[in-house]
Amino acid sequence: MLDASNIFTLLKTSEEFLSLHNIKEAKLDAEVLLCFVLNVKRSALFTMRNNTVTEEQLGIYQKCIQRRIKREPVSYITGKSEFMGLNFKVNKDVLIPRQETELLVETASSLIKKNGCKEILDMCTGSGCIAVSLAHENDNIFITAVDISKKALAVSSLNAEINGVASKIKFAAGDMFDNIKNQKFDIIISNPPYITKEEFINLEKELFFEPETALVAGGDGLFFYNKIAENAKNYLDDDGMILLELNSNISQKIVELFEKYEFKKIKIIKDYSNLDRVLVLKNG
Ligand SMILES: C[S@@+](CC[C@H](N)C(=O)[O-])C[C@H]1O[C@@H](n2cnc3c(N)ncnc32)[C@H](O)[C@@H]1O
Repeated sequence: MLDASNIFTLLKTSEEFLSLHNIKEAKLDAEVLLCFVLNVKRSALFTMRNNTVTEEQLGIYQKCIQRRIKREPVSYITGKSEFMGLNFKVNKDVLIPRQETELLVETASSLIKKNGCKEILDMCTGSGCIAVSLAHENDNIFITAVDISKKALAVSSLNAEINGVASKIKFAAGDMFDNIKNQKFDIIISNPPYITKEEFINLEKELFFEPETALVAGGDGLFFYNKIAENAKNYLDDDGMILLELNSNISQKIVELFEKYEFKKIKIIKDYSNLDRVLVLKNG
């Protein structure tokens, strides 16, 4: 039972309730959801702790808390997510952008600046977090962003508009490279589905709210890496690069796969948990 005497007690009892239901970040989630309902920033909550909420606000908040104890991710409840300091709309048609993917974007951005890259292909764009952030950070680039899901592309197009970069991105529906005709890119970047069926069964309950097609890859997690490896030479400039987010459990197999197709490993970058996360490859 939540105590709505004031915002302080409401947050305290919500945190306890979420903890009781094994929600790991109970305090953070209680605060983020209340900010969403009250439409205020988290920094404002502290000064509001003696205020009360209206009956209507309490009703909406209770529904949010109920959704959260069923393990629905906070971002799907609020409909938004932050990535690279930008705001993104999300819904159940797209994967929620992950912090690890920021490493991929940061690596790409520094290579784009260093090498003056212009044409980028973002394969498997989902929410558009990679394409939109790159377009936001780099002048004079043009991005083609592909996804098989038209529902996902509706979200990514909206995110490009919200962040003021719609004119720098062309969104295209397609099964991997099928709809890309006669075009060469300086960089192919991708965070493809890469979770093996075996890994999927053991994932946190929150993951089951996300689209399975965005997560799971056949062929022991290699299916989409394989598609990129066998097609990339047709779409890459002679000195072009491929940047991939890695499933760290199969990173060596991924490197071997690309070496088989005569791409040269430049480097693997580890994430904050010291796991192989980003692979940079060169054509030739
Ligand atoms: C892991 S999510 C990545 C989303 C986003 N780029 C990110 O980093 O958060 C993979 C995306 O690949 C898309 N996808 C799955 N199969 C595909 C295919 N055959 N061709 C193109 N995109 C595909 C899914 O719809 C999903 O949006």
